[in-house]
Amino acid sequence: MEGARYRFPREFYWGSATSAYQVEGGIENDWSAWERSEERIRQLKQQGLNPAAFVSGRAADFWNRYEEDLDNAHLLGHTMFRMSIEWSRIEPQEGTFDGEAIAHYRKIIQAVKARGMEPMVTLWHFTNPIWFASKGGFLSKDATRLFTRYAVRLVRALQDDVRYWVTFNEATTVYAWMAYATGQWPPQKKSLRTFFSFRKAILRAHKRAYRDIKAMCHGRCLVGIVENNRAVVGGHWFGAQRLANAMYSHWLWRRIRRENDFIGLNYYTTRRLSGRASVVAKEKGWEVWPEGIYRTIKDVGRFKVPIFITENGIADATDRMRWPFIRDHLSWVAQAMHDGIDVRGYLYWSLLDNFEWEDGYAPRFGLITVDYETQKRTIRPSAHEYAKMIREHAVDLPRSGGQPSGGHRSSH
Ligand code: BGC
Repeated sequence: MEGARYRFPREFYWGSATSAYQVEGGIENDWSAWERSEERIRQLKQQGLNPAAFVSGRAADFWNRYEEDLDNAHLLGHTMFRMSIEWSRIEPQEGTFDGEAIAHYRKIIQAVKARGMEPMVTLWHFTNPIWFASKGGFLSKDATRLFTRYAVRLVRALQDDVRYWVTFNEATTVYAWMAYATGQWPPQKKSLRTFFSFRKAILRAHKRAYRDIKAMCHGRCLVGIVENNRAVVGGHWFGAQRLANAMYSHWLWRRIRRENDFIGLNYYTTRRLSGRASVVAKEKGWEVWPEGIYRTIKDVGRFKVPIFITENGIADATDRMRWPFIRDHLSWVAQAMHDGIDVRGYLYWSLLDNFEWEDGYAPRFGLITVDYETQKRTIRPSAHEYAKMIREHAVDLPRSGGQPSGGHRSSH
């Protein structure tokens, strides 16, 4: 039996997302310093891994090859492109701003626009200039002032070309957890107290940056923040979901009701409390559960702020799982929109294979695969399927339908 079809609103954006450190190459920041640190090398060797495979180095060389990559994104029908700015390029030393780096980013952004795509620009995506990290990063007393100074400087330079700004990517969820709770990411400070102070510091920096950016762009720009969301599966999921959401993303959304123009929602996988996953993407070991994107959209929909799916993706070098992944997630996005939630766009993670943080180059998230030896790009078949869906601007709604409003189904 064929499911019902959903047509997306005309102005719905389609595209993909990237981040500076993961694709540009040639960046010196706190993460690159950590990659070379004795501690990191010792940890990798202990696990029997080759430290050289975990150094970001040239990455996908997007800094030099952006035109080819943006040509491809355009060819694939994308209408929005999410990228981030590397703070350490803009302000390599405290108080010294690099005009050439800003001009280069301007060129990239203009290249995005010249291909008919709307840029969405993130100001911070997991990495810090070394001088900032040495002061304690966002835990330093001066952090709000320093981050805002950088943000305002950059927005002033690029505001004619950028309408959508994101202050932070997953700072209070994934990053806070990895850097301060589990201590796997730099600065590897494992302390719950620090975890909570870091989250508060991000909140302060976001609010201040939001106000200053908005004052400067005179209402011509929209400023949001991106957070990761996981769907809880199994157990008494309703109670568990509420608890997890309250601690996870609601904590933030409640506190920035007046300082946020859109919610950027990154959704990849679940937090499974019981039962077994039926589909797992092996490269990251993440369960694939498309209905979870629907549940998280419905959940943040309560804040009545426009939503962008700023990341959703799968690491799959075989490319066999990627297209069904995109199609099924989009059909649940459509279901949430059909239920009345205001979703403005969908950005697949990622346009290119790239440097996947502590996992190095092994996971392959790209619509376009990159041969890191030659930097040759090859468009994966799933990217063409996605392009076809973009042309159709429609998707089949999921067969099992959505959640009755106010209620919940406990099928897991
Ligand atoms: C991050 C990306 C990362 C992706 C896949 C997101 O949490 O924003 O930088 O590559 O997940 O792990």
